[in-house]
Amino acid sequence: MVQLGFIGCGNIARHHANYLKRMKDVNILGCFDVKEEAASSFAKLFDVKHVLTDQEKFLAIEEIQGVIVASPTYFHPAGVIPAAKAGKHVFCEKPMSMSVKDCHRMIEACQYSTVSLTMGFVRRYDNYWGAMNDIIQTGRIGRPVVWRSVGSFGGGPSHTWFCDAKIGGGPLIDGAVHNYDYALKMFGPAKRVYASMRTFDPEHTAFDSGTAIIDFKSGDQLLMCWSWGCLKNNSTTSVNDVVAMMGGFSHDTVPPPEGEDPDKRAAYCIRSRGDQKLYSFEKNDMFADQMVSWMQTIREGKAPVSTGRHALEATTIGLAVLHSAATGEVVDLDNLPEAMLK
Ligand SMILES: NC(=O)c1ccc[n+]([C@@H]2O[C@H](COP(=O)([O-])OP(=O)(O)OC[C@H]3O[C@@H](n4cnc5c(N)ncnc54)[C@H](O)[C@@H]3O)[C@@H](O)[C@H]2O)c1
Repeated sequence: MVQLGFIGCGNIARHHANYLKRMKDVNILGCFDVKEEAASSFAKLFDVKHVLTDQEKFLAIEEIQGVIVASPTYFHPAGVIPAAKAGKHVFCEKPMSMSVKDCHRMIEACQYSTVSLTMGFVRRYDNYWGAMNDIIQTGRIGRPVVWRSVGSFGGGPSHTWFCDAKIGGGPLIDGAVHNYDYALKMFGPAKRVYASMRTFDPEHTAFDSGTAIIDFKSGDQLLMCWSWGCLKNNSTTSVNDVVAMMGGFSHDTVPPPEGEDPDKRAAYCIRSRGDQKLYSFEKNDMFADQMVSWMQTIREGKAPVSTGRHALEATTIGLAVLHSAATGEVVDLDNLPEAMLK
């Protein structure tokens, strides 16, 4: 039986716990949250034996082999580093942290204690984004490509910390970090970042709206234009597509070709040289596959799919976006400004 624990017992913790509870050889033995109510309601839902509001006591539970760190982003290092020191394998939610230095400290702590560090970049398990990567890598729409993500998602997540400048950093780090990570997987190393952002909602201290452009060394580009600062429930239409000289496709999927099961498969419609072709792929549940993969890391020593190094690079892009927005500077990712290294 694999024994697990949680640091932070909010929304995403509950989402992961639902999947873990379905596994026969996994038990959630302990949970810790700074809020007693969050820890105890989590424990009730998932039948957890040890319920704590003291992290040291939680990490002293020897039987716990792995912990999920699902606290707000700024607090990730304060969970990951002591958990690694206590000899626990770590799964940490994205973004990695709110500073480049902290990301390095988290990686080093896990290396030093020889525990695995798996990062919650769930899109790495997503067949929907995987199919985007497959299409691009085949070269059928040409390179370089521009991946465009434009959307306004009302006032953003309900918990206010997401748009607190120190704790969550707003949409272009918290949510967009998935895109940075996946673009790094598809395009290779990034070259530079420039961003222009503003804050619509006066209760937010983070930039909640704006645009970032990330240029990759390959010549590919990612454009992120998001808002979490509009009136609640005031989401607008969104654009998520990939364009290149020889063609492109929207992320709005269409039913798969005739003969394929639409419950199991979906397709992208690729437009190229005046022609349209379907590219079909199997639907999956990325969160389920993510937890299965993490359990293989603990049980079998399988290398994590989403590593601390991946997370460091993606989080650095997010932090560079915020730096660029605050200063108006273009950030050269091979030569980070001093202010980002403190
Ligand atoms: N992978 C994804 O798709 C995804 C989705 C949502 C959230 N997240 C990430 O997961 C993390 C948590 O998000 P959430 O939506 O669950 O937030 P949440 O606000 O619902 O839950 C956070 C919990 O952490 C607790 N907490 C606060 N400070 C703490 C500390 N120092 N130590 C331990 N617990 C602490 C809070 O009391 C709360 O119960 C964030 O980093 C977020 O970006 C990832």
